[in-house]
Formats: sequence, C-alpha cells, structure tokens
Amino acid sequence: MSFSFDLLGQDGAARAGMLHTAHGDVPTPTFMAVGTAGTVKAMTADAVRATGAKIVLGNTYHLMLRPGAERVARLGGLHKMMDWPGPILTDSGGFQVMSLAKLRKMDETGVTFRSHIDGSAHHLTPERSMEIQYLLDATITMVLDECTKFPATHEEAAKSMRLSTRWAKRSRDAFVARDGYGQFGIVQGNVYKDLREESAAALRELNFEGYAIGGLAVGEGQEMMYAMLDITAPLLPTGKPRYLMGVGTPDDLLGSVARGVDMFDCVMPTRAGRTARGFTSHGVFNLRNARFIDDGTPLDENCGCLCCTRHTRAYLHHLFRAQEILGPMLLTMHNLTYYQRLMQDGRVAILAGNYDEYCQATRAGWEEAKH
Ligand code: GUN
Ligand code: ZN
Repeated sequence: MSFSFDLLGQDGAARAGMLHTAHGDVPTPTFMAVGTAGTVKAMTADAVRATGAKIVLGNTYHLMLRPGAERVARLGGLHKMMDWPGPILTDSGGFQVMSLAKLRKMDETGVTFRSHIDGSAHHLTPERSMEIQYLLDATITMVLDECTKFPATHEEAAKSMRLSTRWAKRSRDAFVARDGYGQFGIVQGNVYKDLREESAAALRELNFEGYAIGGLAVGEGQEMMYAMLDITAPLLPTGKPRYLMGVGTPDDLLGSVARGVDMFDCVMPTRAGRTARGFTSHGVFNLRNARFIDDGTPLDENCGCLCCTRHTRAYLHHLFRAQEILGPMLLTMHNLTYYQRLMQDGRVAILAGNYDEYCQATRAGWEEAKH
C-alpha cells in the first residue's frame, strides 16, 4: 500500500482528489481537525468520526513535552493512544515553539527553547523532529521549518526561507520511508514572489510526497494570502497534495480551494465552538447572544449533526450561559461537521464543474446572519 494522490477532477484551479495512505483514504479537498495534544478538544474519537473527518492533526511540540514521544510510542503510537486508526498528520514543532515556548533561540542546528508547561529546556533539530514524528507514528510527517514573521524585509525572509530549505533537506534525509507514509515539504518565502519560487524549486528537488504552503495567515490579510497562493500553487507538482497550513475561515477555505489547495487545518472550528461561536449555512452566530434565549429552532436546519438534529439554539444558549461543558462539546461537533460538509460539497461541485456557483450560493447564505 503506497502513499499516493489521485487527481480526479479539476474546475479552474480547484481540484478534487483522493489521497491514499497506510491508515486509509482521504477525499480532497479536506479539512483536518486539530488534535494538538492527542485529542480534538471536547470530542471523543467517535464524535470526530461522526463529523465526517477523515484525517486529524497532532503536534510534535505539545506531545514531545507531554506525555513525551517515547511514551506515546510505548503506548502503541498516537493512533492507538487517541483511538484514531485513520490518518494523522503531525506538524513539526517549529511553528508552535515560536508561538508558545519561552526563551526561544534559533540557530543553524535547530531551535532551543523552554517548555511553556514546566520551563524545562529542549533542543529541537530537524533530525529530532523527524524521530518524534516517527515515534508518534504520524501518517504524514512535516519537515522542520521556520515560519517567517510578518511583516519581514526581503532580506529577513530570504535568510529564514533558506534556513528552512536546509532544514527540509536534513528532514528529508532523516525521514524513515515506510509504505503508505509520507513526508511534506513546506514552502516559505513570506510575501515575496521570488522567494516563494526559490523555496518551491528547492523543495521539488527533494521529491516530497506532498507540499505545504507555510508562512501565511500570519497577519498579511486575505487578499495578500490569495496573491501568494496564486503564485505558489502553480509551482507545485500537480500530482501531489497541497496543504495550506493554519487556514482558516470558511470563506478562506472556499477561496483557497479555488486557487488549488487540497488540505487545510485550523483551530478555528474547534476554538470557536468552545467560545460559543457557531458556523452555519446562514453565517456565524454567537450563541451567548440574548436573541437565542427562546429560539426553539435548530442551530442550522441544513446540518445533520447531533447538535442540529436533537437540540435547539435556545438550549445551546442556556448551556453557554450556564457554563455547562456540553455547550463546547455540541458546538465543536457542529462546527467540525460544518467544515467537513463545506469541503465535501465543494468536492462534489468541483467534480460537477460548478465550483464557482457553489461558492457564490454558499457565500450568499452567510449574508443572512448579518440581517
Ligand atoms: N502552521 C501554520 N503555519 C505554519 C508554518 O508556516 N509552518 C509550520 N510548520 N506550521 C504552520
Ligand atoms: Zn450541526
């Protein structure tokens, strides 16, 4: 069983495909639920499966600190530990070190930092990141990279991207190839066309199983992000999956799929679900809002999730007001189901050749929340 990607249809730059892995197939475009610490927050694995999710994300940074990569391996790997036999993609750690760890120091060898949990000192190198992801038994391993800050000068962005390129080579050398497992390179280069081109060309030489686009959704805005996707996506091999890291809103997903992206991950649906924000076919609602106190209708009548088929907006409103744990559970369930359906329906539209119409109709629905 080899790791492969079939491109099944295209509508403009939008792609519909099927990713084959040792842990199962993933129809694309796909949204990966974020399971940072070996759990999609507030969700059992069965509940995650019921949303339609086919692949989840884990994090090297969090799992190396707690419970520790060697311990996860002893427990039978991340799939077994979290009861998720399906595919798992793990991020490499660099990005999370930069956003969470204390006393970070970057040099050619890797990144030294102190844990945000207990202050312990760690040194993460490309080789150690690959070893950790191997111990976790990640279906898809990400190279160690540096997500360049925004804004950055051309000189800063070039220096950072070239370090990431050298780390990508070391990550490739340290990756243990196994049937049905893959490793993705990460294109950096900030908002500079020539740097994105240089990064993509260097990574293509390394012949990864897939390619991620990193360093976006860091404050540059949707217009600039789309401009970077328009530049970067065509530089990547058509026969391999493309993953836009850390994106985004439902609108970002529609627009990024239109520009040739196949895979996404973002904390947005899960984090929003814990803070009473629900994504629906009528737009985003804050369930704490008093307008829902007597609303006996489903959150989204177009949604087949347990939250929408069995409960009312008034009940969700009550749960969040009373700070009951079921509120975050139900709304996370719904938001993830919404994201999955957005991608599944998008895939059907791409295969039918009416993706633009699908996006227009979906966006028109979101306007209703504003009235
Ligand atoms: N998550 C969001 N953006 C990035 C990125 O540029 N690199 C990595 N490794 N993870 C990310
Ligand atoms: Zn729902």
